[in-house]
Amino acid sequence: MEKRKSLAAYAAENGCTYWIETYGCQMNAHDSERLAGILASVGFAPAEEMGQADLILFNTCCVRDNAEKKLFGNVGKLKQKKRQNKKLLVGVCGCMMQQADVAEKLADTFPFVNIIFGTHNMAALPEMLYAAIFLGERTLAVSDQEDLPDETPALRAKPPLSAVNIMQGCDNFCSYCIVPYVRGRERSRSSEEILREVRGLAKAGYQEVMLLGQNVNSYGKGLAENIDFAGLLERVAEETGMKRIRFMTSHPKDASQRMLDVMARHENICRQLHLPVQSGSSRILRLMNRRYTREDYLELIRRVRETLPGMTLSTDIIVGFPGETEEDYQDTLSLVREVRFDAAYTFVYSIRRGTRAAAMEGQIDEKEKQRRIVGLVDLQGQITYESNLAHVGRRELVLVEDESRRDAGHVCGRTDGGKMVNFPGEPSLIGQFMPVEITQAKKTTLYGRRIDGDTQA
Ligand code: 5AD
Ligand code: SF4
Repeated sequence: MEKRKSLAAYAAENGCTYWIETYGCQMNAHDSERLAGILASVGFAPAEEMGQADLILFNTCCVRDNAEKKLFGNVGKLKQKKRQNKKLLVGVCGCMMQQADVAEKLADTFPFVNIIFGTHNMAALPEMLYAAIFLGERTLAVSDQEDLPDETPALRAKPPLSAVNIMQGCDNFCSYCIVPYVRGRERSRSSEEILREVRGLAKAGYQEVMLLGQNVNSYGKGLAENIDFAGLLERVAEETGMKRIRFMTSHPKDASQRMLDVMARHENICRQLHLPVQSGSSRILRLMNRRYTREDYLELIRRVRETLPGMTLSTDIIVGFPGETEEDYQDTLSLVREVRFDAAYTFVYSIRRGTRAAAMEGQIDEKEKQRRIVGLVDLQGQITYESNLAHVGRRELVLVEDESRRDAGHVCGRTDGGKMVNFPGEPSLIGQFMPVEITQAKKTTLYGRRIDGDTQA
């Protein structure tokens, strides 16, 4: 407490500012909002740009390929700046730092980095800043056990979009994935805490919330209260006043009919589902430890479409998993053709040290992996485009979220199903629901025009 006070006094006196550079998924983006909340609580204000900040914090990811090289390059670039400005503080945190060997390598490579900490040590940020500023000490904090979660409110982007964590960690141990190692075991927040947070956001003018977790469908496991994800979703839909609710990520093995029924019963739960399939081959799915077959997945999709016609479906797919034959790869392509996802995030398998797949035989040659990903991206690109084309002429309710970056005088927002739409409009529309007629489809975006008259949600 005393340390926080001295820090806040120092920050106020010196007008301290911070910049957070975020890599990776939406969980990480939300962690950055939580870090920003902690920094605000000790008097740090956001900087206008990285070059002006007194503290630069990199919130890292280790799921994506080449992440380590990219991070080391970007941190390295600050060496010169640190020489010119002795007071500049540099910190590196997040998933990649939760791997002790990588954190140590970063500490050795860049002695000028003041603070290094893993995902489990976020709450100690004020102490680490105190040590850096007042004692001139470096901190490297990577522990296996999570600190008590910090209750400081997250500092969010302006409305209308928000994200709320409902659970953390993952117990699934898919054989390619590092997440269970860096994010630890599954733990759920109490439903009361979540409901309170979402209610507060709705009151503060947020129209949409994304409920986040590595595996939202196993929400509730280990809690004293008797609740599952479908139960939580229903309560969020009924008791918070939130206009739009989305969630991710769902594991196909845990996506229940109960959840689909709750979605069908509530208008304010968006008709959008992200269901990572990873592969279309049952043999590869078994090696991946996904615990469903191609047939199970297709059956789930059939039930989704039956319960919720018009649902927007997206997925994650990995090509080049160890031992993946041409036939397995063709199975993935045929599943993609059969399901016709609206969007797919496609990945080339890459080795994550410490995972089971890293030690598997039959690692695929890089060139071959490239060939496979190009084929998949081409196929999905065509399907996404066709799915976009099918929207032309439809009327959609768009929640305006920002000015369009590409087209001056345009704003952008998403449909209920999560498709991005650009249309001519003023920034004053941000935060409003607008009826829009879709007039044109491009590969990744829809274009439309406002239908004047009603603007109700
Ligand atoms: N190689 C390639 N893709 C991976 N993903 C996770 N781990 C790996 C890996 N080692 C992908 C999965 C997951 C998404 C977030 O990242 O498709 O769903
Ligand atoms: Fe990784 Fe599998 Fe857990 Fe998703 S479900 S975070 S892919 S281990």
